Amino acid sequence: MKYSFANELSVAGDFRHVMSLSPTPVTIITAHTEEGPEGIVIGSFVSVSLEPALVGFFVGKWTRMWQPMNQADAYCVNILGEDQSHLSKLFITHGVDRFAEAEWDMAGNGAPVLDGAVAWIEARPYSLTDAGDHDLVLLEVTGLRSGRDIDPLIYHRGQYSTVRPSA
Ligand SMILES: Cc1cc2nc3c(=O)[nH]c(=O)nc-3n(C[C@H](O)[C@H](O)[C@H](O)COP(=O)(O)O)c2cc1C
Repeated sequence: MKYSFANELSVAGDFRHVMSLSPTPVTIITAHTEEGPEGIVIGSFVSVSLEPALVGFFVGKWTRMWQPMNQADAYCVNILGEDQSHLSKLFITHGVDRFAEAEWDMAGNGAPVLDGAVAWIEARPYSLTDAGDHDLVLLEVTGLRSGRDIDPLIYHRGQYSTVRPSA
């Protein structure tokens, strides 16, 4: 087994490789902004606190897709199902009208709800904390809904995958 101490890790190589071994969910966080509906694919989504109900994610400070969204007052976390990698690929693409190509609706809080997800979490801003070249965004949950009863889409070893029960 190759073993590296932290101070020997190369950020471009070993760091990315080792982190790719840890699977993440694939979510699209959406908001209604002054420029219309916006959305960004987020794998760092995590449940944070029950009281108050908080969820969080990390977003790159200079991510263009996040800029119109960071002042929004309402968000929807769309947790994608195993057959929705096409939506993730659509939402990382610049220069296309992503909301014209996706099926969606308006959530109770005004943020876009993407059809066919396994769950939706409506939320409002709670805090923003510096985290290196990313920010840690915490959102307070204002609504919860489960969707299709299928397995979630995950990202693992640099590709889309899903989960299966372990023995
Ligand atoms: C599966 C997956 C997970 C991602 N997770 C994150 C994330 O947690 N945080 C983040 O800032 N960007 C994440 N991204 C990248 C963003 O969705 C987006 O594509 C990228 O930041 C675009 O940057 P740009 O708008 O500056 O071109 C992820 C992309 C994919 C495909």
